[in-house]
Amino acid sequence: MADDEPANRDLFDELLTSQGFNVITVPDGDSALKCLSTTPVDLVLLDVMMPRMSGFEVCDKIKTNPDTDLIPVILVTALSDKQDRIEGIKSRADDFLTKPVDRNELLARVGSLLKLKHRTDELERAETVLFTLARSIEGKDPYTHGHCERLSEYSAALGSHLGLPEDEITALRRAGVVHDIGKIAVPDAILLKPGKLTSDDWKVMKEHPAIGERICAPLKSFRLVLPIIRHHHEKLDGSGYPNGLRGEEIPITARILTIVDIYDALTTARPYKTAFSVTQTLEIMKEEVARGWWDPRIFMQFAQLVHSGAVNLRSRAAAASGDGGASTGGIVGRKGS
Ligand SMILES: [Fe+2]
Repeated sequence: MADDEPANRDLFDELLTSQGFNVITVPDGDSALKCLSTTPVDLVLLDVMMPRMSGFEVCDKIKTNPDTDLIPVILVTALSDKQDRIEGIKSRADDFLTKPVDRNELLARVGSLLKLKHRTDELERAETVLFTLARSIEGKDPYTHGHCERLSEYSAALGSHLGLPEDEITALRRAGVVHDIGKIAVPDAILLKPGKLTSDDWKVMKEHPAIGERICAPLKSFRLVLPIIRHHHEKLDGSGYPNGLRGEEIPITARILTIVDIYDALTTARPYKTAFSVTQTLEIMKEEVARGWWDPRIFMQFAQLVHSGAVNLRSRAAAASGDGGASTGGIVGRKGS
């Protein structure tokens, strides 16, 4: 609870402590933000009129920081001014209380927001389980080390460069980590096979997008992630899997992730190929765009990002020359990455 008036802090402290809550009181916005950076907090009560930083500004900072944006904030205002409410809504406050604070109203609002926070925490735990599972699958294969993190970062950067809305960028960030989670159902003998995959191996490998979609489907917050997982191996000309979608039938987020996925696979050494340089990789992808596999507009924007250095796409090229390892289909050797 942040309030510059000691009497108000004591009042809130007393009311909430008597109900069994652990209360931390601070005299200003700075101290509130410092406290949030070091202590896990379930709910924040902010006085609006504080010196240096107003409650609105503190609230805005809390809601802008991804580490604290899910913590509910109640603004406490002396004014029942409409403008104040509008400011509060703009700063993304979850609720309001008007001074003098009514005890029952305070407890009711705190109680309902804590319930909401509890549900959000559970959801976060479910996401954490999925991310851990996805990383453990990645960890099986030393060649793909760091692939999920790079995909997450670069897909989000490309999505943002293309002007996608915030929720789709968040979906891309999550999909970067979990897109291959369905590989849990692919036996290691296929997943880690150093040579060519047989047609039976491919049948199994090609099931991973649909299986991944099923694993993540129960999570409502993954609604926009599911189509990316399902369609990250589709090709524009309809020759991809699992649905053989064509052109814009493939969700734009999936087309974005695919471009970054292919780039990362090509610039990384795999058991079946060496790493290509950035220049070689972009050339190969350009040929594949011409073949009708990848979205030309998204590829061009991505190539621009690579050239501008806006995203730190370091090549993990092992050799400046050479055309890589055994071909497993397509223009260059490649497995379902
Ligand atoms: Fe994949």
